[in-house]
Amino acid sequence: MRVHPHHVSALVELVALVVAASCGNASSPGSPASPTSVADRALAEFAGSYPELATPSGVVRTFELTAAPAELRLIDGKPLQVWAYNGQVPGPTLRIRLGETIRVHFTNHLPQETTIHWHGVRLPNAMDGVPYLTQQPVPPGGTFTYEFTPKDAGTFWFHPHVRASEQVERGLYGVLVVEDATPPPYSRELVWVLDDWLLDASGQIATPFNTRHDLAMDGRWGNAITINGLTETVLKVQPGERIRLRLLNSANGRMFTPDFGELDAKIIAVDGLYLRAPIPARGFELAPGNRLDIDLSFDRSTSAPLEVWDRFVAQRPNKLASIQVEGEFVRTPAFVSPAQAHVPRWSDAVDAPIAHDFRLNAHQGGPFGIAWTIDGMAMDADHHHAMPPSATFERGRFAHVRFTNESSRIHPIHTHGMFFRLLARDGVRIDEPFFRDTVIVHPHEQVDIGVVPIDAGTWMMHCHILEHAEAGMMTTISVTEP
Ligand code: C2O
Ligand code: CU
Repeated sequence: MRVHPHHVSALVELVALVVAASCGNASSPGSPASPTSVADRALAEFAGSYPELATPSGVVRTFELTAAPAELRLIDGKPLQVWAYNGQVPGPTLRIRLGETIRVHFTNHLPQETTIHWHGVRLPNAMDGVPYLTQQPVPPGGTFTYEFTPKDAGTFWFHPHVRASEQVERGLYGVLVVEDATPPPYSRELVWVLDDWLLDASGQIATPFNTRHDLAMDGRWGNAITINGLTETVLKVQPGERIRLRLLNSANGRMFTPDFGELDAKIIAVDGLYLRAPIPARGFELAPGNRLDIDLSFDRSTSAPLEVWDRFVAQRPNKLASIQVEGEFVRTPAFVSPAQAHVPRWSDAVDAPIAHDFRLNAHQGGPFGIAWTIDGMAMDADHHHAMPPSATFERGRFAHVRFTNESSRIHPIHTHGMFFRLLARDGVRIDEPFFRDTVIVHPHEQVDIGVVPIDAGTWMMHCHILEHAEAGMMTTISVTEP
């Protein structure tokens, strides 16, 4: 168990309160409260999944982050005009330890307004980086200080939430690693940011953005797949090494299904959080925004080619990287994969009443000619405040939520401020042994999730195909006190 006892007790208290309240007269005074409904049982089973509150140690880590245009040797090594955090793509990996507070002094030297969103981090609503909703956009030349204490250890990332389809494509993204209070003794840790660039004939980032083609299809899919900004990745490892690989899909639209083939590779975390038990590192559809932590073991040297492939489009696989095992044996202490989190099974939670069914679709019109909609509404990216939340959930209660994709395109739906667990696809129950913050809803598919929001506020929910989001597929969820 990787849950701290005082966190558990906070949630147990919350659950006890809810159970007591919902049982009402049903339980006689003095008798132990017993859950009465499917939702109450789901909530009781959720207890201990992740902490309700942060536990700041008092240590503050301060970072300076500046967004500005830059020319970098990326992709195959030729100069590329990008927008970059601190002059690098990906931006710097910000690394803190659980309990520490991160303070980021941000300066905008872009020719556009921007904000920084901390994708996957449960933080106070005011630090969420959503223009007009949680802050005013940071104008060119402006500054903003982000400060929060993450409640969860894990692999997170940060990116702009203003004109994201342009700003992220130009190179603005970076990884935030929140280490465990006591990190497991891997011999090495690596961060791989997967991206997909659309380059024009001159080898520069193709403009315009948000083309009619991108909008009508699954967003902007490019012609250069990179790991940490470069193609032709070769990873050299020594026998005996055990590597924690933190993988992020930062592409605007492309999905990856990483396949580690013959490698000893296990998924230990999804979207930052540990699994109930590790699963093999193949077949996971890594949508834009998703992260995977992979436990890679190399017990002996081998001359066999080791390769990592993307098999999202089965007929057109992409080679992502080669791995060479050579050199001296490295002794790594044996330890159990850090993946024994409490993840509820929620075996009958899909029978709970549906709190909201989000309908995903499109219509003609809007500023781009095609508007992508949630419940028939396209959000105007510059007027988040003008649209009422499309759903309201009670803090600390279980909600069964459905996404019905009425369109023939794919939509990776991302919720800010809350993790959720997949319950069913097209009515077929699924017990994914992990939480997520982003899930693919395939064409004409119906996806059911269970969620217990524990942070009050108005949170964005949107498609993480950035062109779909820009063309309206965004809304908000309000989490209120019961
Ligand atoms: Cu990475 Cu609003 O998302
Ligand atoms: Cu979409």
